[in-house]
Formats: sequence, structure tokens, C-alpha cells
Amino acid sequence: MPEPPSCPIVDFDHTSSEHAADPVGAYRRLRELGPIVWTAAHGGYYVVTEYDEVFEAARSDQVFSSARSPHGGEGLATVIPKVPVHLHIPVELDPPRSRPYRKILNPKTSPDAISALVPRIQDWTTWFIDQVIEDGKCDFASVIGVPAVVTLDWLGLDTSDWRRYSSALHAVLANQPDSPEHRHAVEVDLPWITEQIRAAIDDRRQRPRDDLISWIVAAEIDGAPISTDDAYSMIELLISGGVGTTASLVSQALVHLARHPEQREELRADPTLLERAVEEFLRAFSPTQALARTVTREVTLGGCPLQPGDRVLLAWASANRDPSAFENPDVVDIGRWPNRHAGFGIGVHRCAGAHLGRAMARELLGQVLRRMPDYEIDLDAVQTYPSQGVNAGYQRIPARFTPGQRLGSPVAP
Ligand code: HEM
Repeated sequence: MPEPPSCPIVDFDHTSSEHAADPVGAYRRLRELGPIVWTAAHGGYYVVTEYDEVFEAARSDQVFSSARSPHGGEGLATVIPKVPVHLHIPVELDPPRSRPYRKILNPKTSPDAISALVPRIQDWTTWFIDQVIEDGKCDFASVIGVPAVVTLDWLGLDTSDWRRYSSALHAVLANQPDSPEHRHAVEVDLPWITEQIRAAIDDRRQRPRDDLISWIVAAEIDGAPISTDDAYSMIELLISGGVGTTASLVSQALVHLARHPEQREELRADPTLLERAVEEFLRAFSPTQALARTVTREVTLGGCPLQPGDRVLLAWASANRDPSAFENPDVVDIGRWPNRHAGFGIGVHRCAGAHLGRAMARELLGQVLRRMPDYEIDLDAVQTYPSQGVNAGYQRIPARFTPGQRLGSPVAP
């Protein structure tokens, strides 16, 4: 018989609808119980709630492993419950194995590389807003398809399919495994995505282009050409990392600004304030709420002894609202600085797409504030994702605004 956990035992499931109704309150109540708690949900897992302990676990990557293992079932090791997707690289490799893959990404995700992408981000944002600007009404959930399209465009995949990528990847993370949406995604849309990526890899091996897939397939790992499986694992992670997260950030920021017109006016009047504001939205709204690790050896965290095989949820969202790390953590202060939030994770797996995510969020928010400055959201009709356990955000945001003019070409960029 395994020993009962020696930390508080809680009735908690971050994937449940009860949690989705109030994730901020739920994590506040857990933090009041201690820096680490245990729940029997999904076969049993620990939840790390305070900033210092989340930081410590995320930095101890050999003890809190991101690699696949039989503990907690089969599938993506960084979520609870695991979901049946292909291995994701580098996020599911521990160092040193992760390093050569991250080195492939670094030159393409550096601040300079992302600056070069900004005109493309602007064109796509202009185009998305052009599609609705004359109508005076829209669902912001469609406008924030920009990150999905930019990610597909950057990789070199067909941008007209963005909705299918976006909804499939979202369905596996945001719906219960027994739901029809989850089943459809796993049985139909994920295999379709696999086909698209495999076809693009084969094509770029023969006919390289100026796109990220060509860059990845031309790379070497330890002196040998990267395998098709590894290239696939990197591309699928870039799609799932890029498609939903920034949309979730922007959706929450737009709803927040509708509720706080004084902050909206401040940002509209001085767009340079967006830089810090985006960091604060990352902290306060934590688009990626929590990710998992597996314990590899006996260790004590937050006073609680852990055993090899234990599954541990690192709640970035809770760390980001921990009053010992942030003054008035529940106040969204758009000028907050410094702001060492955990919104992009911590440690070796810290988000590779952080600069891209920031650039897309700034452009989207900037254009909405400039072109739809008086937007109003029907707050009674907004719909959040059914589960807020991994990605928090809205899937329906009906809005009205004074109609404006199209600014770009009628043809997609
Ligand atoms: C606001 C937007 C974003 C948020 C909140 C976010 C959040 C995160 C977090 C929390 C991690 C840490 C994973 C872990 O520790 O297990 C991560 C890793 C990662 N993200 Fe993002 N992400 C965002 C945008 C993007 C974009 C736009 C891309 C690329 C298109 C991307 C690609 C990745 C990759 C490749 C990793 C794995 C890095 C590694 O393992 O070395 N992310 N992200």
C-alpha cells in the first residue's frame, strides 16, 4: 500500500467544470492550505500552488521530469490526464537530450528573428480585422485566429486550414476525454493534421523553401540529419504551442479591457504601454494555467515527501497570483514592473515562442484598440472554454463597435 500523502488532501480537479467556473478562486483556496496539496482525481496528483515551490520544481528538471513514462498512463507527459498525441520535442525531453532541439529553434525564435516577422503579423492582423470592420459587430474569438494563421504561415503550412488545426488541438486539451468533441479530434482531425505535417516534411526534404519546416528538416542532431519522426515532433509542438495560447491571452485581455474602460483608454492613448500591459495580462490570466511533471527520485517539496512516479501539477496560474511573490496579486496593474511572472513557464522548457507570442498579442491588441476603440462586449453572452485546466480563455466573445474602413488588400496575405 502506498503511504498516504503527508500534505493537505483536497477535493480538486483542474479539468472540472467547477474549477472552470472560478480558477482564480480555486487556486487561492489551495494556496491557503499550503504550497503543495494532493488530490485523488485522475489517479492522484500533487498540485504545487506557491511561486517558490513552482520555481524550485521547474528548475529541478532531473527530479521533476517532463519525459514520457508509464506513470499516469500513456500520452503527453506534461498534462494531467495525459492526452494521446505524438511525442512533443523538446518539451517532453529532459536535458541534455532536449538541448540540440532547442538549439535548432533558438535562431528562429530570437527577438531579431521575430522582429523580421512583425510585418507579416501586421498584415495578417489587418486582414482579420478587415473581414469584420465594416459590419460593426464580430466574434472576437474569430479575430484572434491571427496567432494560428501566423504560426501556420511561419511553418509553411496551408493557412486556409487554420480553424481545423485550432479547433482540433483545442478540443483535446479543453474537453473531457469522453466528449464527442474530444473523440472527433482524436479520431478525425489529429490524424488529418499528422498527414499534413508528414506531407510537408517530405515535400521540404525534396524542395526546400524559405520556411520553418525547411529549416527544421535541414537540421542535424549530434552530427546526423534529423529524423522525420523528430522533425514531426517539433512541428506538432510548434503548432500546438502557437495556435491556442496567444489567442487565449488576447481573448482574456479583450474581455478584461471591456470591463475596465479606463485601462482601455490609457492603452489606446499610449500604445507604448502595451509592452508592460501584455506582461501583466500574462501574469494575471496565465493562458497556460498548469503543466505536469513526473517525480524521478525521492525528494521533499514544500515540506512534502514525494516518491518516484508521483505526478505533479505545476500551477503557473497559482504562482502568478501568489501574494508572497506579487503585491496585490489580484489587481491587474497594467504598469506593473518588474513582473517576473511564470506565464511562459520557468527553467529549461521556458516558452520558445515567448517573443512571437508577445509580438502577436501586442499587434492584435494594438489594432483592436486603434480600429475598434469603442468596442463593447456582450458580457452575458461570452463563453469560456469548457475546461480551463490547461488553457484558459474564451471561445465566444460577441462584440459591437462603430464600423470602420478596411485597410488592407481584399486578398489574404
Ligand atoms: C501567450 C502565448 C504563450 C504562452 C502563454 C506559452 C506558454 C508556454 C509555457 C508555460 C511553456 C512551458 C512548458 C513546460 O514547462 O512544460 C511553453 C513552452 C513552449 N512553447 Fe509556448 N507559450 C506561448 C506562445 C508560444 C508560441 C507562439 C509558440 C510557437 C509557435 C510556442 C512554442 C513553445 C515551445 C516550442 C515550447 C517548448 C520549449 C522547450 O521545451 O524547450 N509558445 N510555452
